[in-house]
Amino acid sequence: MADTQSGESSQTGPIAPSKPYPWPGVVRAYAPFLPVNEDTRIITLLEGNTPLIPAPYLSAVTGLDVYLKFEGANPTGSFKDRGMAMAMTKAVEDGATTVMCASTGNTSASAAAYAVRAGLRCVVVLPAGKIALGKLAQALVYGAEVLAIPGNFDRALEIARELTAKYPITLVNSVNPYRIEGQTTAAYEVCDALRGRAPDYLFIPVGNAGNITAYWKGFTRYQRAGKVDGTPMMLGFEAEGSAALVRGAPIAEPETIATAIRIGNPASWQGAVGAARDSGGTIGSVTDDEILEAYRLIARREGVMAEPASAASVAGLLKMAAGGDARLRRAGGKPVAVCVLTGNGLKDPDIAVAQARNTPKTVPAELDAIAEAVLGGAGGAARGHGSGAESVGGASGVSEASGTGGPSLAPRKAGK
Ligand code: F0G
Repeated sequence: MADTQSGESSQTGPIAPSKPYPWPGVVRAYAPFLPVNEDTRIITLLEGNTPLIPAPYLSAVTGLDVYLKFEGANPTGSFKDRGMAMAMTKAVEDGATTVMCASTGNTSASAAAYAVRAGLRCVVVLPAGKIALGKLAQALVYGAEVLAIPGNFDRALEIARELTAKYPITLVNSVNPYRIEGQTTAAYEVCDALRGRAPDYLFIPVGNAGNITAYWKGFTRYQRAGKVDGTPMMLGFEAEGSAALVRGAPIAEPETIATAIRIGNPASWQGAVGAARDSGGTIGSVTDDEILEAYRLIARREGVMAEPASAASVAGLLKMAAGGDARLRRAGGKPVAVCVLTGNGLKDPDIAVAQARNTPKTVPAELDAIAEAVLGGAGGAARGHGSGAESVGGASGVSEASGTGGPSLAPRKAGK
């Protein structure tokens, strides 16, 4: 459990002097904790060093000190780059020529990019029609060989595991232990950004369950190394239609709008269950509506656009806070909660446009027309929703809409 008394989590003040500059990527930055030495040829796109963004709105509605670990700032737009840097480094060291992964999208985008840097052939196996557009575009543009199957992620992973066991092809899914090793670096970064303390709570989306496994491994390793006093309560969230861990049995036909975590038989099952148990936390689930509400809320209230699967962490926080969950109450000080935002919102433009609820208003390219649009309506056309009445009665009881109306726009006085 984290020491709730210690440490200021304020983000003001000088940059921690221990942070390497220029940033060398996660493998070099955390080399003492990873399976590398001075001679290792490190494959990197300078991933990691992602921002831990304070979330004032979420802090106000939950009573916690909430931060967003924005993994969408990685080179291919998701947390996968941490593990891929490490896995690809090891693949090259082991003399691999070809790498393969099954993916709901982000792993394939990351594998494709890092394979370019490593000079390896990359083959990705995807569930046809269930990959967000941005992720598919990435795999194709980086030049991976993309195989789409009429089946889900779980089937794609089965095939990739069998094939790579039979042929000299390196599997770069998170069942590859080096992927997990690389992803432990996110936990170190969180502790470093909090100036040498672990958060009290770590909220994280769960799909194939590699990331929650890696964070827990990272937090406990950092504690053993004396870098932090405590470890966080691990709170993982699956999408309800794919919540195999919550149900306690695999789901043959997983469903959710959050395609990244549309997974019915998580490979790191034991890792996730162990992280929840050993940290005093839990694996829960959130509905697609709760995910989408959180998705809109973090964009409109915090100015952070993450992909739908990522919003499962925030949906989990809001659900626990709204339900008055006793686990979120701590004596003394304001507990620190970190929500991991695993992927960039630009990954899934279709959902983004559908969820935005406002549309561009076509206007003539004339000053008068623009002035009328800006000054004429309540709140103005630029806000795209004159009524401002977008609050939804979701489980959290909070609204993702920003304030109604806008600032008054009286004409400038001469000379101003
Ligand atoms: N969030 C995003 C954006 C993801 O892409 C994934 C997994 C997760 C959360 C869940 O992480 O699997 O470690 O529990 N995406 C994998 C992929 C399955 O193929 O890109 P996990």
